[in-house]
Amino acid sequence: MLPVARGRLITIEGLDGAGKSTLALALAGDIAARGHAVETLREPGGVGLSERIRELVKDPSLAVAARTEALLYAAARAQLVEERLTPLLASGTIVLLDRFVDSSLAYQGGGRRLGVGEVRAINLFATGNLQPDRTLLLRISPAAGRARQADRARGEGELGRDRFGRDRLENEGEDFFAAIADAYDELAQVEPERIRAIDASQPPERVLRDAFAAVADLL
Ligand code: TYD
Repeated sequence: MLPVARGRLITIEGLDGAGKSTLALALAGDIAARGHAVETLREPGGVGLSERIRELVKDPSLAVAARTEALLYAAARAQLVEERLTPLLASGTIVLLDRFVDSSLAYQGGGRRLGVGEVRAINLFATGNLQPDRTLLLRISPAAGRARQADRARGEGELGRDRFGRDRLENEGEDFFAAIADAYDELAQVEPERIRAIDASQPPERVLRDAFAAVADLL
């Protein structure tokens, strides 16, 4: 059993291009300004092993079966929980985490059609059932997400991209992202207390305002 968390785990979810990392940065600033210890992490990654797994899952030159993909994300997550999240939460830190279990439920359970229940089961094992205190779901249409992603890629040039150019998941078609968006919406409907949907098509300062309001009771 994991120790009871004293800090807070706030996860940020949504399609690629929804603006999660921009929000994480701004929200961390707001929370820190109120005198809280805050740490921002991303998945897959955050610790050495998980960053290596990140390179593997993004590499377009590798064949990765759907079940393998689910297990790789879960393995990266297990290491992050053990090595970083559990100690941070035990020390009272507020952790802002860019993607967590819901990403696997939506992308592998929905997008890859492995089923939310199956993917949830391996993630319960991986995380020892660590649950977010709150989840911000940045809602954006798949088309708008893709457009923003393309802008980002152009703006950053090749150097700002993955060393493989477009990553393996970004190569997927529209159906894949539509299925992910549907899966996220279903998760939010089932757990409205934990998962707060935010309209990510708004200007960034509005998204930040809504996000802050959605976590204020935890601070
Ligand atoms: P990343 O570059 O971090 O994308 P983003 O900035 O949109 O978060 O790459 C993470 C990719 O991995 C992204 O396409 C979503 C995918 N992913 C899953 O499919 N399952 C998961 O459990 C996680 C954490 C991410």
